[in-house]
Amino acid sequence: MRFSALAVLAAAFAGATNALPVIEKRGNSTASDDLGLSSVQGLNVTYSSTYNASLPNVVIFATGGTIAGSSSSNTDTTGYQAGVVGVAALVQSVPELLGIANVVGSQISNIGSQDMNATIVLKMAKLANEILCSEGSNVDGLVITHGTDTAEETLYFNGPANLLQAVTLAGNPDARDRGAMIVLNDRIGSAYYTIKTNANTLETFRALEQGYLGMFLSSKAVFYYPPVQPTFKKTFDITNVTSLPMVDVLYGHQDFDYLLIRAAVADGAKGIVIAGTGAGSQTTPSMPDIDALIAKGFPVVASSKVNVGAVVPDNDKSSFIRSGFLNPVKSRMQLQLALACGYSLSEIRSSFEDVLYNYLH
Ligand SMILES: *[C@@H]1O[C@H](CO)[C@@H](O)[C@H](O)[C@H]1NC(C)=O
Ligand SMILES: *[C@@H]1O[C@H](CO)[C@@H](O)[C@H](O)[C@H]1NC(C)=O
Ligand SMILES: *[C@@H]1O[C@H](CO)[C@@H](O)[C@H](O)[C@H]1NC(C)=O
Ligand SMILES: *[C@@H]1O[C@H](CO)[C@@H](O)[C@H](O)[C@H]1NC(C)=O
Ligand SMILES: *[C@@H]1O[C@H](CO)[C@@H](O)[C@H](O)[C@H]1NC(C)=O
Repeated sequence: MRFSALAVLAAAFAGATNALPVIEKRGNSTASDDLGLSSVQGLNVTYSSTYNASLPNVVIFATGGTIAGSSSSNTDTTGYQAGVVGVAALVQSVPELLGIANVVGSQISNIGSQDMNATIVLKMAKLANEILCSEGSNVDGLVITHGTDTAEETLYFNGPANLLQAVTLAGNPDARDRGAMIVLNDRIGSAYYTIKTNANTLETFRALEQGYLGMFLSSKAVFYYPPVQPTFKKTFDITNVTSLPMVDVLYGHQDFDYLLIRAAVADGAKGIVIAGTGAGSQTTPSMPDIDALIAKGFPVVASSKVNVGAVVPDNDKSSFIRSGFLNPVKSRMQLQLALACGYSLSEIRSSFEDVLYNYLH
């Protein structure tokens, strides 16, 4: 079983879901029974459409967040409450879904995305491995609905379209072998490269250098290239991983010194990512502590607070690890996975640096 470091999300957003349309019954058996999902341990099936053998099979993990937010009226945004609407109500708010796929929904959590944590991410990764990759699986794709902590007003009327597109994509055979993708606002991006680029606008999820994988035209997914995986992507076997170790991200700036580094270590961090200035540069006063930690086998990864571009590996293996194209939060997740899988310092360094280094030397 393999889990991509950054196998995250078909993101989707919805607003209020009052005045729910009624789901029409179209047959007898439910998709969850037909797909053998009722017996998957830990999968809390809270919605299952009627099974139709001529449709693809898509599982939805609902996590809460903006998509599941509610407000007492369609126009009132002040009473907005994140993460209170369940997956059944979400599906009911987009009845077109039922003509596109057999849908099995599981309520994984009911939280705003700012409260997403390692427990929930690991649980979803393990369930995803089991549902998608176990022998004889008939599940064509998985959608994880995941809120953003902002923009609920802007996204208010676009949510149903995003969920519909995510389910359409998950059931589409052309979407296979591309890794995890993010769908928002008609654009399809690789989850590995996509970052949030604007705190407020709809055009926020982008891979500024690498571009989009495809788009939606007239409700159909269109891909610009055949299936391909991100060059730098690492996979980690999480079969035996039950928790992720603490890794702190520290933000670089003028006068950044060793104080926060020491505080993080004293507080129990097992690794540190520094969102360094520029291409990952570190201040002179912080360097003795960073090098001393590396010498002890404690990983310190330099990424960039600029968020776009690379922190380039060089020949110096005695100082901080260079994050390559991973931004600080993605670097954190890769470091947590490498630590959880028992990687040594040099294996951790290789997982971040080798592919890019080999391109350049
Ligand atoms: C529903 O169940 C009834 C009774 O078991 C059966 O006769 C009928 O064919 C089923 N309908 C569908 C669409 O499967
Ligand atoms: C399943 O999800 C529903 C809806 O969120 C919740 O009420 C119920 O407690 C959950 N059951 C389990 C076993 O987690
Ligand atoms: C099953 O799906 C096909 C394809 O969308 C559709 O033509 C058919 O009417 C559906 N059958 C039922 C019983 O809803
Ligand atoms: C993650 O969030 C869930 C739901 O709020 C909570 O039950 C769990 O304890 C949290 N885990 C960690 C490691 O904070
Ligand atoms: C997981 O644990 C099992 C049982 O100890 C072991 O056989 C297997 O090799 C482990 N897998 C990994 C990837 O560590």
